[in-house]
Amino acid sequence: MPSAADEIRSAIARAGSISFRDFMSLALYGEEGFYSQVGSAGRRGDFITSPEVGPLFGAVLARVLDEWWHEMGSPNSFSVVEVGAGPGTLARSVMAAEPECLRHGTYVAVETSAEQRLRHPDSVQSVSEMPARIDHGVVIVNELLDNLPFQLFVFDGGWREAFVTTNEEGSFAEVLGEKVETPRGFPETAPHGTRLPLQEEAREWVSRVRSAIHVGRVLVFDYCTPTTAELASIPWRNWLRTYRQHERGSHYLRDVGIQDITAQVCLDQLEIRDAKVSTQAEFLRRHGINELVDEGRRFWEAHRDRPDVRAMTMRSRVREAEALCDEHGLGGFTVLEFGS
Ligand SMILES: C[S@@+](CC[C@H](N)C(=O)[O-])C[C@H]1O[C@@H](n2cnc3c(N)ncnc32)[C@H](O)[C@@H]1O
Repeated sequence: MPSAADEIRSAIARAGSISFRDFMSLALYGEEGFYSQVGSAGRRGDFITSPEVGPLFGAVLARVLDEWWHEMGSPNSFSVVEVGAGPGTLARSVMAAEPECLRHGTYVAVETSAEQRLRHPDSVQSVSEMPARIDHGVVIVNELLDNLPFQLFVFDGGWREAFVTTNEEGSFAEVLGEKVETPRGFPETAPHGTRLPLQEEAREWVSRVRSAIHVGRVLVFDYCTPTTAELASIPWRNWLRTYRQHERGSHYLRDVGIQDITAQVCLDQLEIRDAKVSTQAEFLRRHGINELVDEGRRFWEAHRDRPDVRAMTMRSRVREAEALCDEHGLGGFTVLEFGS
């Protein structure tokens, strides 16, 4: 069975070299890529995301969905479309919170990885691609944009695109292309060796999804940096990261197919002029996370002498909220809200 590295070697053999963007695409989403095979969010996976902290994140989103559904005039056919749904954890928590809007609608979990789609709950519609049109609904994405393949540029007397080839030992190695015009948002000059991403796929994804919604909203959660230029001033390994089984991984050209490759999302590369921008902590507080925590505390106090699973779940809201709203961690993530 060919590995992800074999798939990449074949592509390089055909073309001499491939762009970093194509390398990332094959390493993560090729037939033997990380997400197609082993990789996933979760305690038994490779990294913890907000839905994986526990059911509280989904419980807050269920309130948000109901609020927006009412604002839309409580339409009868309503779609909640989660893109990059991973193993379906957020879907489970939202469904468990029983929002009224889903009594009149469908939860669609969009996930490219067939391996992860197998883990989706039966109660959702599990698909590999976004619906082309959403009449009334909300699209939710958590930690998707950071995983979309991007072009990588290196400053060497000017900006040059990074390509991947193989060296004499058969290992992957980087080669730089010709100097190009300074890409949008990049500084004209930078210290030798500075690396920066050009995230066209993320930009296109946002505009494509917005135009697919007739009436509704798009809600994006991710780790973001306001400007591309800001990334030039930090070591590149701090913004272009790899993860494997809850640890930071190795250089992205190594351990291909068995580690995640991810980057800070540059907000100035997305079309966000009319988006509402907040931190995750602000967003969750605005939508009632503290009320849900108080409810959890009261429930626990009333049942602490004979605690059952529900009482334990309610008690754990306190710790979950701390993690979800931690300004130095998940609480510092960026939330983008777009209307249709
Ligand atoms: C970092 S994981 C996040 C999973 C989940 N949203 C969470 O927060 O736990 C990103 C997921 O997006 C999926 N993905 C990447 N590109 C996609 C696309 N264009 N459409 C649907 N899913 C995609 C990957 O396979 C992976 O499962």
